[in-house]
Amino acid sequence: MSQNSKKRLILIGAGSRGKCYTDRTLARSDYFELVAVAEPIEERREYIKKLHGIDDSLCFDTWEPLLAMPKMADVAIIATMDRDHVAPALAAIEKGYNLLLEKPAGATPEECRRIQRAAEERGVFVLVCHVLRYTKFFRALKDIIKSGEIGRVLSIQHSEPVGVVHQSHSFVRGNWRDSNETTPMIVQKTCHDMDILAWLVDKKCKRVSSFGTLTYFTEENAPKDAPERCTDGCPHSEECPFYSKKLYLDDKDNYWFRSTCTKLAAPTDEDIIRSITTTDYGRCVYKCKNNVVDHQVVNLEFEDGILATFSMSAFDEGGRRIKIGGTKGVIEGMLTNPIIRVHHFLDKSDREIDLDAQGADNINGGHGGGDDGIVDALRDVLEGIPNFSVCDIAESCDNHLIAFAAEESRVTGKIVDLEEYSSRF
Ligand SMILES: NC(=O)c1ccc[n+]([C@@H]2O[C@H](COP(=O)([O-])OP(=O)(O)OC[C@H]3O[C@@H](n4cnc5c(N)ncnc54)[C@H](O)[C@@H]3O)[C@@H](O)[C@H]2O)c1
Repeated sequence: MSQNSKKRLILIGAGSRGKCYTDRTLARSDYFELVAVAEPIEERREYIKKLHGIDDSLCFDTWEPLLAMPKMADVAIIATMDRDHVAPALAAIEKGYNLLLEKPAGATPEECRRIQRAAEERGVFVLVCHVLRYTKFFRALKDIIKSGEIGRVLSIQHSEPVGVVHQSHSFVRGNWRDSNETTPMIVQKTCHDMDILAWLVDKKCKRVSSFGTLTYFTEENAPKDAPERCTDGCPHSEECPFYSKKLYLDDKDNYWFRSTCTKLAAPTDEDIIRSITTTDYGRCVYKCKNNVVDHQVVNLEFEDGILATFSMSAFDEGGRRIKIGGTKGVIEGMLTNPIIRVHHFLDKSDREIDLDAQGADNINGGHGGGDDGIVDALRDVLEGIPNFSVCDIAESCDNHLIAFAAEESRVTGKIVDLEEYSSRF
C-alpha cells in the first residue's frame, strides 16, 4: 500500500491505552499511519511524536486545537480518561472522523446516548474498545454457541477475578480509585463483561440486580503500625503483597505498572522512586482515598429465560472464567487458558478445543489478544470486511446501559428493569 493510500489516524490521549493501540497500528504500518497527537504530558507526546515521525506542527497539548483543524485523517483514536471521552468524541464526530473510542464510551448513560446520536446523524462509525469480543477465546465461545452444540443456552456463570494487586494498582491507588472522578467499577472495568454476556446470548437484557461493597481496602484493615507510605519504613514490607517498592521499582519487567505510576512512556528508576515517594502509588493501600467496590455480584435476566450471574472480585488470581450451560451441554473456559472444554449431556463425552493448536494469538497478550484483535477489526471496518465481533455504537450503548443499571441496583438495592431504565435516556 502506498504512503498516500494508507489509513490515517490521529491520537487523542497518549497514555497507556493510546500507546497500546498506536504500538499496534505501528506494527501494521503497511496499512495505518499516525499523523497527529494531542497529549498534555510532554514526555508522552514526544515519545509518540518520535516513534511515529509526526510533524511538530501536528503535535498538540490538548485535543481542542487538533480538532479545530480541518479533518486530516480517517480515524480519531480517543483514549483520554473516562470523563474526558464525550467532549473530544462529539467534536471529532462533528468533523466527520470515525472513532476508535475507549470504553466506557461515555461516563454516564446520557453521554453514551449523545455520542450514539451524534454518530448516527453524522454517519460515522464508532468502534468502542470492547476488546474481549476480539479475543480468540470469546470468538470461539460464540462460534460454539452458534453451532448449536450445547443446544439452547439457558444459564451462564461468568467472573472477572481482578486480583488483589491489580485492584490495588488501578482501583485503590490509581486512576480509578474515586468513582466520582471517573466511573464506578461495573462501568469502568466490567462493562466489558456486561457487553460480552449480551453478545454471547444475543438477547435483550430485561432485569438486573447487584450487590457490591468496598470492604478490604479501607483504613480499619491497616496494620496498626503501618505508616502512610510504604517507603516511610513500613515494618510489614516483607509480608505485604502491595509493598510499592517491590511492585513498582523492583519488578523491572512490569512496564504497565512502571509507566502508569509515573505517567511516562519511558520511565527511569529515578522517576519510579519519585512516584512512590510522592504520589498515591506509594501510599499504604489501606490509607488511600478510594471509594470503589472491591467485590461485586450482578444477576442478569435476559429474554427467553436466560439467566446469568456475574462476579467481580479483587480476591482472586485474575483471568476471566466462564461456564455456559445449554440444554445439550456445557462450555467451560478461562480467558488465559488455551483449552476450552465442551461437555455433552447425551453421552457424557468431552470435546477439548485447544486455541494454541489453532494458531491463536498470544492469549496472554493484551486482554487475551483483544488489543490486537480490535486493531485488526478497525481495519476490517474501514475496508468493509464483515467481522462478527464488531458492533455499532447503538449496541455498544445498550450494553453500557446494563452496566449503569447494575450500578443503580447496587446503590439503591432495587431490581432495575432495563426497558424502563433505558427509556430515561
Ligand atoms: N479497553 C480496555 O480494556 C481498557 C483498559 C484500560 C483502560 N481503558 C480506558 O481507557 C481510557 C484511558 O485509560 P489509560 O489507562 O490510558 O489512562 P491514562 O491516564 O494512561 O491516559 C489518558 C491520557 O489522556 C491524556 N489527556 C488528558 N487530558 C487530555 C486532553 N485535553 N487532550 C488530550 N489528551 C489528554 C492524559 O494526559 C493521559 O496521558 C480510560 O477511559 C479507561 O477506562 C480501557
